[in-house]
Amino acid sequence: MRVVAVMNYKGGVGKTTLTANLGAVAAGRGLRVLLLDLDPQTNLTFSFFSIDDWHEQLADNRTIKQWYGGEMPGRDVPLPGLVVSPGRVNRALAGTGGRLDLIASHLGLIDIDLELAALLGGTTTLDGSKRRFLDLHGCLRQALADDHFAEYDLVLIDCAPNFGLVTKTAIVASEQILVPAKADYLSTLGLEYLVGNCAGLVQQFNDFVNHNGGTREHRPIDPGMLGVVFTMVQIYSQDVTTAQRAYIEEVRLNSKVPVLQSRIRNSPHHFGDAGETGVPAMLRANSRDKVVREFDQLAGEVLTALELTPGAPR
Ligand SMILES: Nc1ncnc2c1ncn2[C@@H]1O[C@H](COP(=O)(O)OP(=O)(O)OP(=O)(O)O)[C@@H](O)[C@H]1O
Ligand SMILES: [Mg+2]
Repeated sequence: MRVVAVMNYKGGVGKTTLTANLGAVAAGRGLRVLLLDLDPQTNLTFSFFSIDDWHEQLADNRTIKQWYGGEMPGRDVPLPGLVVSPGRVNRALAGTGGRLDLIASHLGLIDIDLELAALLGGTTTLDGSKRRFLDLHGCLRQALADDHFAEYDLVLIDCAPNFGLVTKTAIVASEQILVPAKADYLSTLGLEYLVGNCAGLVQQFNDFVNHNGGTREHRPIDPGMLGVVFTMVQIYSQDVTTAQRAYIEEVRLNSKVPVLQSRIRNSPHHFGDAGETGVPAMLRANSRDKVVREFDQLAGEVLTALELTPGAPR
């Protein structure tokens, strides 16, 4: 099982669209995919469930909010019990051998970061606070190590556009980080900051693990930067616009983050109605559409990097 966090501090860069569609395309290639919605905006969840269904079936007891809430994440509510199989997308995947499951989010997750921060400060001894730091930041990683999740090939985590504690648990849990970005000044500006903050978190986590002599529960982490994938790229007469090409080149030459070959074009026609059908656009679109080919290329690039290509030993 490979765990990938999809993150960027910048809002509206296509994280959720990418998570839903990359997950769907990977499932269409026969993989068993679990999507984890860690954003209180709950957009990924609403890509698969109507708001009414979410209220009726999930909101009260089957979302990640119940898992993070309480005394300590996961103490009262086991993570495997939160997995749901959205019907419409899985019917669309029939015959592919793949599957797309989801752990839903909740609008109330917005309050959880503060509660977790309070838990983090709740001990007085140095050893106690290091222990608490590891338990809190490592909670999702530990939960995903449950045998139940071994049936998945790929877990994609849709993060909120922030670096709060919930997002940090996703980074600790992930083997790789995928960073969707728009090819514009503000989106590319934040990339170094994001890389620096991730590195700082990894170092602190590992320092604390080593300080504790490598506790049985927590092991050092080493999440890799899978890379930046440029989304909503403007194409005119078959080519990326000059301005955007300059931003992409700037990141490619000067950033510590690798840039993926694949790009996703701006296509309001395909992504304008996100969430209304319960089936990600790439499973509904004509396979000859250019953006479908781009997503297919992206899936190939990501799955190869993760050594999850069809036919590879699982
Ligand atoms: N390739 C694309 N072409 C056109 N529109 C797109 C594309 N990708 C995403 N969008 C649209 O852009 C908007 C933002 O996308 P999305 O919600 O995926 O971004 P996000 O990074 O998850 O945002 P947030 O930070 O708020 O979680 C949505 O309305 C979505 O439908
Ligand atoms: Mg989002």
